[in-house]
Amino acid sequence: NNSLRVGIAGLGTVGASLVRVLNEKSELLISQCGRPITVTGVSARDKTRDRGIDISNLHWFDKAEDLAISDDVDVYVELIGGDEGPARASVLAALNAGKHVVTANKALLAKHGLELARAAEANGVVLNFEAAVAGGIPIVKTMRESISGNNTTRLYGIMNGTANYILTRMERDEISFEECLADAQRLGYAEADPTFDIEGNDTAHKLAILTSIAFGTEVAVDEIYLEGISNISLGDIQAARDLGYRIKLLGVAHKTDTGIEQRVHPTMVPLTSVIAQIDGVTNAVAVEADIVGSLLMSGPGAGGDATASAVMGDLADIAKSRPGHQQAPVFGRAVADLKPYQRAE
Ligand code: HSE
Repeated sequence: NNSLRVGIAGLGTVGASLVRVLNEKSELLISQCGRPITVTGVSARDKTRDRGIDISNLHWFDKAEDLAISDDVDVYVELIGGDEGPARASVLAALNAGKHVVTANKALLAKHGLELARAAEANGVVLNFEAAVAGGIPIVKTMRESISGNNTTRLYGIMNGTANYILTRMERDEISFEECLADAQRLGYAEADPTFDIEGNDTAHKLAILTSIAFGTEVAVDEIYLEGISNISLGDIQAARDLGYRIKLLGVAHKTDTGIEQRVHPTMVPLTSVIAQIDGVTNAVAVEADIVGSLLMSGPGAGGDATASAVMGDLADIAKSRPGHQQAPVFGRAVADLKPYQRAE
C-alpha cells in the first residue's frame, strides 16, 4: 500500500470539510499524485457530534498527541487551533517523530514558527501551512516558491474574512456590527474567539508569517502596530463613502532604509481602487517585488471548503514528493539564514 496516510486533529468547520473533500476527490488526487491520500485517524474533542461526515471507519484518538505520533500516520494535520496546549504539543510531537505536518494554525506559527521550523529541519520533514494565511488563496506557495529570487519591497492586503464580511455588510445592508458578526460566526468564518478577527490579531498573525517569508526575517508578531474594527460605526463607514473612500482592515508590511514596518489597522482606501472592490469573506494580498513587479491575488479568505482546499493542496504536494526530494524550507529559507527582525525607525 503506497497511500499517504493522514491523521487529522480537529473536526470543526475546516476539519469536517477536509474529510469530505478528500473522500470526494480521491480519484482525482490519485491521478494527480500517483497514489492515494487516505485518512487513517482522527481526533477531536467530541466523538459523537454530527458533522455531516462518516468517521465510523477511521481510527479515533482521544488525544491529538497520540494521533500525531501514530505508526499509521505519515502526515499529521493540525486543525485544532490556539497557540499553546494540544496544538503546539501535538505539532512538535509529530515533527520530532519524523512526521510531516500540515496546519492551518496561524496563531501557532506567528508565535512559535521558528521553534517549529527548527524541529522540521532537524527531522527532515515538511511543515506546510498554506491554509493558515488568507484561506484558499495560494499566497504562501507564491511567496515561498513562485517568486524566489525576487526582493520583495512591500506586501499588504485584506487577510481576515470575518472583518471584511462585517465591513461589507454594514455598508451594504446598513445593519449593526453585532448582527454582521453573528452571521459570520454562523457561516463558519470567525475564529473560536471572534475577538481575534475584529481586533486585528488574526490579521497580525497572518501578516507576521508573510513578512518573515517576504523579507527573510524572523517572525515578529509582537512588533506589529495593531488596531481592529470594533470601534468602526456605520456613521464612519458612510462618512468615508461621502469622501470617496471605503474602510478596510489592512495588514501592511514594507521595508525602509532602517528596517521593516508592520501594521494592522482600519484604512481608508479610494472607492476606485481594486482593494475597495474586495467584498464579503474575500481576501486579497498584494505583493510588490523587484523582478516580477506587482501581484494581487484574491479569493475566499475563510470558510470550510476554501480552507480545506489549501490543506488538500499541501497534502498533495507531500504525496507527490519522492524520498530525497527536498521541499521548500518553512519560511522560505533555512532558519539559520533568517535575519533578526529590525523594526523601522
Ligand atoms: N477567522 C478567519 C477569517 C478564518 O475570518 O479570516 C481564516 O483564517
